[in-house]
Amino acid sequence: MHQVKISDDIFHVGVNDRRSERFENYWPLDKGIAYNSYLIVDEKIALLDTLERAFIDEYIDNIKNVIGDREVDYLIINHMEPDHSGAIRAIVKEFPNITFVGNKKTFPMLESFYKFTENTLEIKDGENLSLGKHNLQFHTIPMVHWPETMVTYETTTKTLFSADAFGSFGALNGGIFDDELDLSYYEEEMMRYFTNIVGKYCPHTQKALRKLDGLEIKTIAALHGPIWRSHIDMILEKYEKWSTYQSDKGVVIVYGTMYGNTEKMAETIARQLAVRGVKNVRVYDASKTHPSYIISDIFKFKGFIIGSCAYNNEMFPTVETLVNKIKHMGIKKKSLGVFGSFAWNGGGVKNLMKFAEDIKWEVVANPVEEKGSLKEDKFQQCVDLANAMADQLEAEFGA
Ligand code: FEO
Repeated sequence: MHQVKISDDIFHVGVNDRRSERFENYWPLDKGIAYNSYLIVDEKIALLDTLERAFIDEYIDNIKNVIGDREVDYLIINHMEPDHSGAIRAIVKEFPNITFVGNKKTFPMLESFYKFTENTLEIKDGENLSLGKHNLQFHTIPMVHWPETMVTYETTTKTLFSADAFGSFGALNGGIFDDELDLSYYEEEMMRYFTNIVGKYCPHTQKALRKLDGLEIKTIAALHGPIWRSHIDMILEKYEKWSTYQSDKGVVIVYGTMYGNTEKMAETIARQLAVRGVKNVRVYDASKTHPSYIISDIFKFKGFIIGSCAYNNEMFPTVETLVNKIKHMGIKKKSLGVFGSFAWNGGGVKNLMKFAEDIKWEVVANPVEEKGSLKEDKFQQCVDLANAMADQLEAEFGA
């Protein structure tokens, strides 16, 4: 059986999940996902995080393939979310003398999820634990992605076990390290993972990045996706960019439509943006495209133009879901335009303007609202809205 070595005594013992449709039962997994777990084999053996409970048999086999009949001494719990803690009961059954290593926020969760209260070793931020030749140093990074989350830095190999940070959707198709695979295949999945899972916690991510600034890092071993050893600067730069809401020149247009009138307005706006030279325009029907992809593109591009027909005096339901998600995530530094249509009474545009007030993004032009099908004067207002967005983008990014 293959053993996947990260360095002399450090092994990858994770698994791929190409079966699950959704992560957290919500986010689509088109390319699957990897649950990474790591073993350090020394005088003491440490296992760094476990994985999703559906893969327990394969996981135990991977561990035994490395350590044979030896016992695992420590389970380092960097993150308690069940995609990483789901196999804890199975690990305890296999290695009953194992000691759980975590911080003060880890153990109440360990009890509430799995009822374990004994064999715990509570470490403080910055504390060290020797395994023999190898030395583990723990740094808490709260809210990236849960309150208890920490990273473990192995000081002799300068390996950072980074929990969810620097992770990615996408199963590992043979290649485990960043230099063993085509990174362009993972680019969208990395961004979708960051924006969907960690995106609400950008200020916390900034704090974590500043905290890790002082560490010399040769390898980043995240809990999902590729292990970084040749493109560390690239992934750090991406995290810096995303977590400070820096974006590129482009516009995301999303609409909710029943009979095509609001859609026609979206097409008009998109065409005029293209006429004005905006090349990155992404148009989505909110009923077709999952918020996962739209949110990722909202992080990517500066402009966001959203439209809704009226639906029982409210926004169209799929638009409402999306804007609530955006509000909840607290995304910042975007330019906004609003449009919509109605049959006999409003509701779409009115409520989208409430969203605009709440989110506090810069609104580039007055909203455009049409009754029934798109007619000449509102057609012109859609063109004007697109022009206002194009002007704003040119002012920031150039023509
Ligand atoms: Fe991969 Fe927050 O769990």
